[in-house]
Amino acid sequence: MPSSIVILTGAGISAESGISTFRDPDGIWAKVDYREVATPQGFAADPARVHAFYNWRRKNVLSVEPNAAHLALARLESAFPGDVLLVTQNVDSLHERAGSRNLIHMHGQHDQALCNACGKRSAWAGEMSLESPCPACRGVGHMRPDVVWFGETPYQMERIQAALAGCDLFLSIGTSGNVYPAAGFVREARSAGARTVELNLEPSQGAGYFDEAEHGPATRVVPRFVERLLQRAP
Ligand code: APR
Repeated sequence: MPSSIVILTGAGISAESGISTFRDPDGIWAKVDYREVATPQGFAADPARVHAFYNWRRKNVLSVEPNAAHLALARLESAFPGDVLLVTQNVDSLHERAGSRNLIHMHGQHDQALCNACGKRSAWAGEMSLESPCPACRGVGHMRPDVVWFGETPYQMERIQAALAGCDLFLSIGTSGNVYPAAGFVREARSAGARTVELNLEPSQGAGYFDEAEHGPATRVVPRFVERLLQRAP
């Protein structure tokens, strides 16, 4: 019976809530060039285009709800007797809205803003633009979405790596395993002796590193896996 669980989620867990993934045939990167909207260079070249992209995504999330997979993970966190750390690559707020608390947004959150002048972060609900004043320093022209772009360092990596080194169950949900460092977590957990399980619509790029896998929509495979885990819990 595991006593410490680390869960990694990706865009696939939010797909059935109506939020597009990135690399599926109808995914976001099939329609938008990631270099233009998800790199520091793209932001420097055309900040208005980047703000428009995240304003659209921020608004879109407000019109959808957490699904059965998000809810099952929140239940696992509250009912499981051991440690449960949820690390998400997603910048949406669906895990929080489902009730998850022990949660790391390693790629940031688009309902949060970062001021490039004073470095402060602020909760952000509506539209953002270069004209938006920073709620902390009141400076104008420095606000950006608090999202980790390609080429930037993800958040809380030390805490994540410490948890991977000490976990005995690593669960990966709804991620294609294309983007590092997240795609390397399975190997870190594995080398620490953890059992590794993939729950995904299809085998990911890192499928070969998992001890077990269940393929299918997250709203089906995640609640079922959580139910089994909790039934075996003391
Ligand atoms: N249920 C379970 N898995 C699903 C579902 C579903 N309903 N729909 C799609 N998937 C799976 C796909 O098969 C794919 O393996 O989710 C995965 C989504 O992969 P990506 O679109 O590559 O998203 P993700 O892995 O989260 O991307 C990682 O890349 O673009 C950057 O910063 C961005 O955080 C993101 C990172």
